[in-house]
Amino acid sequence: MAGVSSQKRLAVFCSGSGSNFEALAKAGRRGRLGTRIVVMVCDRPDAFAVVRANRYGIPAALLEPKAFGSREAHERAIVEMLKKFRVDLVALAGYMRIVGAQILRAYPGKILNIHPSLLPSFKGAHAVRDALEYGVKITGVSVHLATEELDGGPVILQEAVRVLPADTEESLLKRIHAVEHKIYPEAVRLLARGIKVKGRVIKTK
Ligand code: GAR
Repeated sequence: MAGVSSQKRLAVFCSGSGSNFEALAKAGRRGRLGTRIVVMVCDRPDAFAVVRANRYGIPAALLEPKAFGSREAHERAIVEMLKKFRVDLVALAGYMRIVGAQILRAYPGKILNIHPSLLPSFKGAHAVRDALEYGVKITGVSVHLATEELDGGPVILQEAVRVLPADTEESLLKRIHAVEHKIYPEAVRLLARGIKVKGRVIKTK
């Protein structure tokens, strides 16, 4: 239909600072995302991601779990909201909550997550600290499909980051963020263009 964009519609989920959300929004502005961010979904009212969404003129949907009786009710409300915004794809960007079956079932193979380690190493909420404490010399960033297994879905993109002898969690995180901001828009573009998943292996077009 004339005048109607055929671009896929993306929702970005955040809980905190939202620097990855901003990297995606910036890429979108430059026409380099292959999708349009139509809503930023957030579970915390004090998240700086809300300020960033306002700056980019992207609607922020705040759905606090405590406003709902159960995790199922919270997820149901999120799915309803995604349908209202006619969302096709989802990018989890520092969303510090387990995405459960209701959302996964509504968007099978359509949800990306970014994680600050080379998966399958250092899953969980403290990947940068865990890598430093383990003493690895190389860590990195992974973007993968979200599945029922936490940080366990098929990987679409990865990039290594060297751990330097003087690194603190802060200095390492800074370099990890720089890589995240570069590869997350690329991964979203690849998903939007279409992927094939065979077992654990993703083939991109
Ligand atoms: C990012 O480093 C992301 O990889 C990490 O949270 C940070 C969010 O930063 N996610 C996880 O650890 C998920 N297990 P941001 O809010 O500035 O984008």
